[in-house]
Amino acid sequence: MNTLIYAEPTENEIKSAAKVIKNGGLVAFPTETVYGLGACATSGDAAAKIYAAKGRPSDNPLIIHIAKAEDAEKYCYTTELFYKLAKCFMPGPLTVIMKKRDIIPTTVTGGLDTVAVRIPMHETALKLIEFSGLPIAAPSANISGRPSPTCLDHVVADMNGRADVILGGGECEVGLESTIIRCEEDLSISLLRPGAITPEMLSAAAGGALVVDVSTRKLEDSERPQAPGMKYRHYAPKAKVIVLEGNAESVLRYMEKMAKDESVGFLCDEEAAKRLGKRAFSYGRRDNAVEMAHNLFKNLRAFDDHEEIHTVYADMPRLDGIGSAVYNRLIKAAGFDVRRIGE
Ligand code: TXA
Ligand code: MG
Repeated sequence: MNTLIYAEPTENEIKSAAKVIKNGGLVAFPTETVYGLGACATSGDAAAKIYAAKGRPSDNPLIIHIAKAEDAEKYCYTTELFYKLAKCFMPGPLTVIMKKRDIIPTTVTGGLDTVAVRIPMHETALKLIEFSGLPIAAPSANISGRPSPTCLDHVVADMNGRADVILGGGECEVGLESTIIRCEEDLSISLLRPGAITPEMLSAAAGGALVVDVSTRKLEDSERPQAPGMKYRHYAPKAKVIVLEGNAESVLRYMEKMAKDESVGFLCDEEAAKRLGKRAFSYGRRDNAVEMAHNLFKNLRAFDDHEEIHTVYADMPRLDGIGSAVYNRLIKAAGFDVRRIGE
């Protein structure tokens, strides 16, 4: 397939991309979280192309992207809580799961009777949705299993030849995928995937509702996941990733010892990276989880350009705010291999 790439798309180029969506084709586009690979969400055939292009298992459902909260009712049975949260956080990095209407085919929802809905906060994404007049089903625009793309180069690396059109839009501001939640009958909120909208923010917006984090836990083989995506290996570079937990000084000393091995790389804060040398990638300042979130996927991808690196030791991020979302992605990249480093 010949892929058209518009690095800085004009309004007319976004309009022609919207036509591609209407005709059942695939368009990669920027959002504030990560780039998405979009197709018409009311067409099972179009959605099937997404799974094929990504090499994604067909029971892993897609998020549908709309431009306005009022449109949600056309595609699902909305709840009061949805509108409350939409008022606070949409457009923005929050996805809400609700019971789907028949217009959304089960190809999009991985066979489920629910659908995930979000309003992205990026001008190009919103224009693409508006010009197409359709909801756009879009997972992250990476080949299945690889880190989500946070800049145009990543999307081109994975989707050139697989999507009809790629729209650029700079570096994604957040750098991690949206927070995903489901509202339960008892009015509590289940957190299926942590992101920039934190449990504290959700609870405050929902009048003190209980938020139960069901996201960061390894599932047994026989267990049915809360969110289907939870059972798949994710975000992984080719090298093996190991997360190190312990106080900063002990972890750094351990890393310095391991640095003698040329096949070892590091993911750590910028001060530690300076001390560890050229196979160390920095995810930013230690006290800044927003910066770590922004840089995580870029760094995980960067290891793939260093074939000599077979093992990556990653420092544990701080866990407050968006830090718990960074940790969630990191331990999935590590296949839950977290090692405690003694004092
Ligand atoms: O920030 C984002 O959410 C990005 C951008 C492109 O919008 N999209 C994204 O999509 O991360 P994806 O496909 O990589 O992740 C979607 C995840 C699925 O893996 C699944 O865990 C969950 O959303 N999901 C979708 N529909 C669901 C449903 N009906 N019930 C439970 N989980 C669902
Ligand atoms: Mg994804």
